[in-house]
Amino acid sequence: MIAKKWISALLTAAVMTAALAGCGGQAVPEETAAGQTLAAAAEEKPEPVEVKAGVFYYYGQDAFISKLQDSVNTALEEAGIAYENYDAGNDQETQISSSRVCDLAAQAEIPVIFFNRAVESGGGEGVVLGGYENVALVISDPAEAGHLQGQMIGRYVADHYDEVDLNDDDVITYAMFKGEAENQDAVLRTASAVEDANQVLAEEERQELVYFDPDNSDRYQLDLNGTWSAKAAEEYMRTNLQLYTEADGNMIELIICNNDDMAEGCIRALQEQGYNTADSQVRIPVFGVDGIDSSLALIGDGLMTGTVKQDTGAIAACIALLAGNVHNGLELTAGTESYKKDTEHGLDNLIYIPYGDTVTVQDEEE
Ligand code: GAL
Repeated sequence: MIAKKWISALLTAAVMTAALAGCGGQAVPEETAAGQTLAAAAEEKPEPVEVKAGVFYYYGQDAFISKLQDSVNTALEEAGIAYENYDAGNDQETQISSSRVCDLAAQAEIPVIFFNRAVESGGGEGVVLGGYENVALVISDPAEAGHLQGQMIGRYVADHYDEVDLNDDDVITYAMFKGEAENQDAVLRTASAVEDANQVLAEEERQELVYFDPDNSDRYQLDLNGTWSAKAAEEYMRTNLQLYTEADGNMIELIICNNDDMAEGCIRALQEQGYNTADSQVRIPVFGVDGIDSSLALIGDGLMTGTVKQDTGAIAACIALLAGNVHNGLELTAGTESYKKDTEHGLDNLIYIPYGDTVTVQDEEE
């Protein structure tokens, strides 16, 4: 007989509760024997279970999340896993903490696959992921995008220095759009992008990038609605451009965004002032992350400068693999040996998906 089972694939804000620290459940699921493939594991003929996945998204209107959702739908369909999608609409009341999810799921014996967002803040992985059985996280490495973006920016600026330095003062001023305040992706991308770009510039004996607004000690602008939206970036940028202009010699010379949607918002505000259009003489370099289709088209047209592709297909394939394991009665992480894991914390159930290529206008020009 085929047992019926729910599986939960979750995209939720990571909130760690103090109570959880005392909740010392079993650590990660047992590993399959070294080198054991999914096919080999299947030969042991575990009992198949009929799985239905509930897939929870923090905000379906987030541009990248909507792309990811398409990939996850396709991967689950291809794996023959029935699913139902839910959208928390970026409502904190609707989203529940990772630990609460795990508690509820453990009581009901439902495996949980988290994705897209770190489940424990401040890099403290292990309390949730090491504290529960049948829980896993599939995530793009939060630090990697910032490094890839920073190197791409540094290279581009170094190669186009005179063109980028609009007021010829040998210093490039930049604006930075962070997105969601405490999100690990946002925090680590913000830090690494500028740091890594500066490293490339130092090698070229150029000055470090300087944040455009000397009164803002954060050195970024934040989406106060707690998302990563084009709208917030566009509004900020529109105001910035009232105060910082070429005529006054203090124009923003470079724009770094933690995602493509915000980059597109900035481009719209620039276009209102005659920059970054098909006809404009001056194009301000604007960089994002994700590789959503609309941004790749802007890069193709030379109106946006670069992005780092986030591999939705690979993320979705890994989620479907784990869901398939549940379906096949296998350990949740069976067949994941080839993935990069969080070895630092010994977490076999924290699976990193590498980012894809960087894409820049330069590539298009070559
Ligand atoms: C990031 C992505 C952002 C946004 C965020 C939501 O990985 O780059 O665009 O979708 O996830 O958590």
